[in-house]
Formats: sequence, C-alpha cells, structure tokens
Amino acid sequence: VKWRVMALERTYAMVKPDGVKRGLVGEVLRRLEHKGFKIVGMKLMQIPRATAEEHYGEHRGKPFFEGLVSFITSGPVVAMVVEGENAIAEWRKMMGATNPKDAAPGTLRGDFAATIDENIVHGSDAPETAEREIGIFFKPEELL
Ligand code: PPS
Repeated sequence: VKWRVMALERTYAMVKPDGVKRGLVGEVLRRLEHKGFKIVGMKLMQIPRATAEEHYGEHRGKPFFEGLVSFITSGPVVAMVVEGENAIAEWRKMMGATNPKDAAPGTLRGDFAATIDENIVHGSDAPETAEREIGIFFKPEELL
C-alpha cells in the first residue's frame, strides 16, 4: 500500500478583472464549492497599484510586468482564501495551464480563457506564496 499524506491547506484564489467582467464569478464559485473546498475569505475589490506591484513582485523587470499590473488593477477582482486538502495544487489544476492555449478542456482557462494576459483566475503556486499572498489581501480577522 502506498500512503500519501494529505495536507489541509489554504490558498489565495482570485477571479481577475476579465473573469468578473465576463460574469464568471458564479462559475468559479460553483466549481470551488462542488469540489468541496471551503471559502474562508472573500471580497470584491479594486486592487491599488502598489498592492498589485507587491503581489506580482517576482515578475518585476519582466516584459509583461507593466501590462500585468495595469490589467489586474483595471477593474474589480474577487479575492478569496480557499481551504481544503491539497488546496494549492488542486486549485492550480482546476485553473489549468497559465497559457490558455495549453489549458486542458474542463479547466477554467481551458473552458473560458483565450489569451495568457487575460486568463480569468489566479492561484498561489506554493505554500510560501500562498501565505504571502493571503497576507497581502486579507487581515487575519477577515478569515472566518
Ligand atoms: S512565468 O513564466 O514563470 O513567469 O509565469 P508564471 O509564474 O506562471 O505566471 C506569470 C503571471 O503573469 C501573467 N502574464 C504572463 N505570463 C507570461 N507571459 C505573458 N506574456 C504574461 N502576461 C501576463 C500570467 O497570467 C501569470 O499570472 P498569475 O496571476 O500569476 O496567474
């Protein structure tokens, strides 16, 4: 028998401005809830520029950085903290590949996104990133 340790994790999940504008918030929430994940934090917000630059700090200097910051601040996003078994990797799977051209059918990006700069959703890629991103968008008392 092969045992795998499951971890109860929290991840930062976000519906990006294109997802909100296109009316995909309900679809994203439906998928998260059907998967059995618990939403422990959620808010509609317009991200201030400084916060966006901090959130995407690792991409500073890359050719797409300016466009990325402009895009993520271009309209309201739905910021969420999602909790569940292996939530970080599982949410990334549900999102699909960063470039929608490579995203499998059945994933959010595979089903709804067309371009890499407007790809509907975001999810933390590792435990350290999740902790950092949750801290950028939520105060501890906002997590229920
Ligand atoms: S990479 O290639 O390692 O820098 O990519 P990754 O860390 O997966 O995420 C990059 C985020 O920037 C957004 N973005 C782009 N990535 C690559 N190329 C272009 N042109 C580009 N434009 C925007 C991409 O959607 C990722 O956003 P998040 O919110 O992290 O998913």
